[in-house]
Amino acid sequence: MSPKSAPPVVIVTGAAKRLGREIALALAAGGWQVAVHYRSSEADAMKTVADCAGISGAAAAFHADLGDEASVRGLLPGVVRHFGRVDAVVNSASTFEHDSAASFTFAALDRHLHSNTGAAIVLAQALHQHLAGRDATGAVVNLLDQKLWNQNPDFFSYTLSKAALEAAGTMLALALAPRVRVVGVAPGLTLTSHMLDDAQFAALHKLSPLGRSSTPADVAATVKFALDNASITGTTLLVDGGQHLMKFERDFSMMHPDSAPGND
Ligand SMILES: NC(=O)c1ccc[n+]([C@@H]2O[C@H](COP(=O)([O-])OP(=O)(O)OC[C@H]3O[C@@H](n4cnc5c(N)ncnc54)[C@H](OP(=O)(O)O)[C@@H]3O)[C@@H](O)[C@H]2O)c1
Repeated sequence: MSPKSAPPVVIVTGAAKRLGREIALALAAGGWQVAVHYRSSEADAMKTVADCAGISGAAAAFHADLGDEASVRGLLPGVVRHFGRVDAVVNSASTFEHDSAASFTFAALDRHLHSNTGAAIVLAQALHQHLAGRDATGAVVNLLDQKLWNQNPDFFSYTLSKAALEAAGTMLALALAPRVRVVGVAPGLTLTSHMLDDAQFAALHKLSPLGRSSTPADVAATVKFALDNASITGTTLLVDGGQHLMKFERDFSMMHPDSAPGND
């Protein structure tokens, strides 16, 4: 099969586990060859690769530390060496560490901005250069967060990094058009964190106008829709049961008194 007629290739960052894995599986089911990016979860990444390959026939794992620019810059060329092409990038990997206005440091901001914002921009830049060389078009999907539209001061640096990524999405949609579309997908509370037990998560998941926030399948289907729809760029699809329409004083992880780490 010639490269032109081969199925398209998508890089999904942070695809070893959780939402990234769900997105990888949904795209494999949609006929994509999936480059499963991971940092530390190699065994889980290999499982995602096996499961994607079982669906679409082709997948492979690629390691990169998204906090390190040289490592990020090596990711897309490595995928091209393996598959011969890349057509899309889904930026799902994310650093998610708690800080607040009181505990904020340059170091925390740098960690979040490098992996959550800078890496996504470098991958969009690399995709644009690669597609220009093939005279082809493609797309980038950035995973954002409903809390950008419903702000609270928890996870201060994480939220700043996602706000910057949302702004970068607008600029990149203009700068990289018409070759590369750039779309945001903003989940609500979808998967639990180590700060919530199952009962707390179930109760918080219902806190929305629709009585349910997003499921992993909802988010993955929206990413697939964004990649498939050639008319969408420079906007964000909120997939959250309407949580962005509500006002929460704290992050979900901090709403239960036992789960607040020092309430800093
Ligand atoms: N889960 C939710 O309810 C929710 C809600 C709103 C928004 N979102 C957004 O949706 C996306 C996926 O959420 P998630 O909960 O599945 O994410 P997650 O579990 O917090 O993180 C996904 C992966 O990101 C990778 N990662 C973190 N720092 C990295 C770095 N420096 N270099 C390379 N990889 C790094 C890790 O890979 P390794 O394990 O391989 O190290 C991790 O498994 C995120 O962008 C998040 O902000 C999620």
